[in-house]
Amino acid sequence: MINLIKGFHDILPDQSQKWSFIVNKARSCLERFGFREIVTPVMERTELFQRGIGQATDIVEKEMYTFEDAGSESLSLRPEATAGILRAVVEHSMLRSEPVLKLFTIGPMFRRERPSKGRFRQFFQINAEILGDDSPLTDAETILASYTVLKDTGVSDFALELNSVGCKDCRHIYRLALVNYLNPWRSSLCPDCQRRMDANPMRILDCKEPECVAASREAPLITEYLDSSCRDHFECVKSALNSIGVQFRLEPRLVRGLDYYTRTAFEFVHAQLGRTKAIGGGGRYDSLIGELGGPDVSGVGFGLGIERLAMNLTDDNPAFLRKIDVFLAIIGASALNPGFELVSRLRRSGLSVEARYSNMSLKAQMKVADRLGAQWVIMLGENELAEGKVTIRDMATKAQTQVGLDDIERAVMGEKS
Ligand code: HAM
Repeated sequence: MINLIKGFHDILPDQSQKWSFIVNKARSCLERFGFREIVTPVMERTELFQRGIGQATDIVEKEMYTFEDAGSESLSLRPEATAGILRAVVEHSMLRSEPVLKLFTIGPMFRRERPSKGRFRQFFQINAEILGDDSPLTDAETILASYTVLKDTGVSDFALELNSVGCKDCRHIYRLALVNYLNPWRSSLCPDCQRRMDANPMRILDCKEPECVAASREAPLITEYLDSSCRDHFECVKSALNSIGVQFRLEPRLVRGLDYYTRTAFEFVHAQLGRTKAIGGGGRYDSLIGELGGPDVSGVGFGLGIERLAMNLTDDNPAFLRKIDVFLAIIGASALNPGFELVSRLRRSGLSVEARYSNMSLKAQMKVADRLGAQWVIMLGENELAEGKVTIRDMATKAQTQVGLDDIERAVMGEKS
C-alpha cells in the first residue's frame, strides 16, 4: 500500500458534506459583499513568494515546497493565496479597468509545518482581497466579511483580535526601540529568535519559547510608536467596527507571520485552538502591489482555514446529513429495466434518486435507503408494473400510499414543495 504524504489529508465522503456546506456559505457570503472569484495556479515562481511574503518569514525560510523543474526554474507550491492573486492582477492589468477590485479564491495551500491537530501541510483556505481602496472603512468591511463567513457557517466561540502594525516609517523607529530593548537578552533567546533579532525582530513577540516570552514580556509595543496618520487610520477602523457591533479585543502584541502587512492586522482565535492555530487572519498591505510591479495602491484581505473552521462545527447539523429524495426499491428481475428507466425519468424531473440493480432483497434495499437518508422509498415489482401503480413509503412517518406510475412526480414533488 502506498500511504498519504505526512501532513496531507483526504476529505472522505462523510466529511465532504460539511466541507461543501462551508464552501457554499462562504461563496454566497462573499458574493453578497461584492467579491468575485479568481482561480490562480497552485504553483508559482519561487521568487514571487520570496518577494511577496518576505525572505525572513518562517514560511519562506523553512516551510515552502520548492522544486527545480526540468527547465531549472525554481517553482514553489503556494503557501498562501495573496501573492498569486496579486501576480494575476498585475499581469492582467486588472486595476486599469476596475480601480477597486474585490476578489476571492478558495483552494489548497501548502506549508511544510510540523503536522498536529488542525495543522496540515496541505490545507484549504477561503481567501479574499480588496485592492485599490485605502479607506479604513475598507479594513472594517474586510473584517466584517470574514466575521460574517464565520457566523454564517455557524462557528461559535471565536474572538477577533485587532492590532495596527504601523507603516514602514513607524515600524522603522519601533524596530530600533525593540532591538535596543531586547539586545541585553540576545544570547538567552532561542536560536530562531537570535536570527530574528537582525532579520525580523517583531516576530520575537510571537515566539512561544519560554526564554523568549520572558525576554519580551515588558518589550515596547508597536501601538506606542504609531505616527499620527497610522493612529487615525486605526481609530477609524475601531470606531467603524464598533458602529456595526463587531466586537474585538485589542492585541498590541499581534504580529502576523507574513511580512507584507502595514497598519491593520487581525486574527480570529478560537477558545480551544488558541492563537497558534488561528481560524483566520488578515490585514492591510500598502506596498505589496507596487513591489510586485503593479500600481502604487494598497490592499486589504483575509484568509480563513477551512480545516480549522470545520473542526469547530459539530457533525450533527442536519445540513451535513446525507440525504436523497427517492430510493427506488426494485423487486424481482423483471422490474430491473423498467426500474432503470423510472430512475432516469425521476432524475430528469429534478429529484435525487438512487437504486441498486443487483437484484437485492427488499429488506436489504430498505437498509440501503435508510443509509442514504432517502425521504421516500418507491417500490416497483412485477405486480406494480401489471397494475400500473407503485407504493410510496414516507420514510419519516412510515405511511404508505399507492399512486399511478404516471403520478409519481406529482405525489413526491407536490409534497416536496
Ligand atoms: P495566515 O494567517 O498565514 O494568512 O493563514 C490564514 C489561515 O489559514 C490561518 O488562520 C489558518 O486558519 C489557516 N492555516 C494556515 N496554516 C495552516 C496549516 N498549516 N494548517 C491548517 N490551516 C492553516 C494568510 O495566509 C494570508 N494570505 C491571509 C491574507 C489574505 N492576508 C491578506 N490577505
